[in-house]
Amino acid sequence: MWGGRFSKQLDDAFARLNASFGFDWRLYAADIRGSIAYAKALARSGMITEAERETLIAGLERVRAEFDAGTFEAKPNDEDIHTAVERRLGELVGAVAGKLHTGRSRNDQVATDARLFVRDAIRRLQFALRELQRALVEKADAHRDVLLPGYTHLQRAQPVLFAHWLLTYFWMIERDYTRLADCAARASVSPLGAGALAGNALGIDREFLARELGFARVSENSLDAVSDRDFIAELLFAAALLGVHLSRLGEDLVLYSSAEFGFVTLDDAYATGSSLMPQKKNPDGMELARGKAGRLIGDLTTLLVVLKGLPSSYDKDLQEDKEPLFDALDTLELLLPATAGAIRTLRVNADTMRAALDTPMLATDLADYLVRRGMPFREAHRHVGAAVKLAEARGVALADLPLADYQTIAPEFGADVRVVFDFAKALAAREVIGGTGPNAVRAQIARAQEIVRRA
Ligand code: ARG
Repeated sequence: MWGGRFSKQLDDAFARLNASFGFDWRLYAADIRGSIAYAKALARSGMITEAERETLIAGLERVRAEFDAGTFEAKPNDEDIHTAVERRLGELVGAVAGKLHTGRSRNDQVATDARLFVRDAIRRLQFALRELQRALVEKADAHRDVLLPGYTHLQRAQPVLFAHWLLTYFWMIERDYTRLADCAARASVSPLGAGALAGNALGIDREFLARELGFARVSENSLDAVSDRDFIAELLFAAALLGVHLSRLGEDLVLYSSAEFGFVTLDDAYATGSSLMPQKKNPDGMELARGKAGRLIGDLTTLLVVLKGLPSSYDKDLQEDKEPLFDALDTLELLLPATAGAIRTLRVNADTMRAALDTPMLATDLADYLVRRGMPFREAHRHVGAAVKLAEARGVALADLPLADYQTIAPEFGADVRVVFDFAKALAAREVIGGTGPNAVRAQIARAQEIVRRA
């Protein structure tokens, strides 16, 4: 395709290094879509006849059909998807195939293909994210009344609703969803017509090309356009952060499904056994949710390091953008539905969660009791701390510390102090927006349901 000034065949080892068809064949649909639009633009600018345009389009559609059917036959000299499509087009339609690349470079071509591909990939990812959100909100809605010990520093802190905990992940995923939407908007720029680096010399209509391909606008600078991979970096960042979110969900569920916690039971369809220990049921899916985050962060890191320090315009290093992109998408395509399924089928052990609540988790409410009697919070905090210490020394639950003991600590403790030790009441006190009060959580579920209904 570029052999005119060369007098030798490529060295075998170099040819293998140079070739990208082994992975970038996945761009075929985008590549052919871009080429069909380009054939139309060439005809509009008078570079080819209408008949030639139709021949090229029909030929490109046949090449696409071969890829779709899995019958496309790659040849050893197919360096990348662009050369492979053009070679096959030539076999199908003859010499007119040589007109398709008029004024176009693989540099603006591959940048266009990648943007088309990323746009579709984002749509698929968003769909999978909505499925996971749906699983989370349905589970939360089905267990609205279940209480869970809430943790900070992984130490028992305050009671919360199980639904409140679960929806943590709904909102993380919602941020991922909107991050992807932002990324799609910035990917929606057409580089086609940038040529190799300097712009098209044959009067191609770039606005027409952008419209044909559904891009919101055209790139402003041809040098920038052929090497801008920010949209891939952004997608990989969104994927990495999504991976981090899934890893945290995975970690919570590894812990909560252990015998020590026992708060949830993973469905047998989402767990594995041990080849040695017959009793084992392992949360491998959740561990992989944790582990795959490392890989997704690696994909982002790979691309950023490839981009770092490149001279302006196209450099072959940029060919290294595709494998991390494909890897991240493939990883999420496996991970997201498996995670959604694990959530959907999760058994919620309400009694075990309830039994794990202890009255020291209401110590803050006890301090609030004193505050309501006019005591400054800092002082109340100190008195309750003393009560916790005394109860520990006496070997009794905080709720069972005798009133006389409470009153030696602070006379403001009244006979009604025991009323504080009611988990449901502690929750009901937290009806602030975004709090764990039952009504607040009900409203939160309603907002989440509204979001998953939208798309
Ligand atoms: N396979 C190449 C890539 O992925 C296509 C662009 C090649 N451009 C070039 N000037 N060699 O980046």
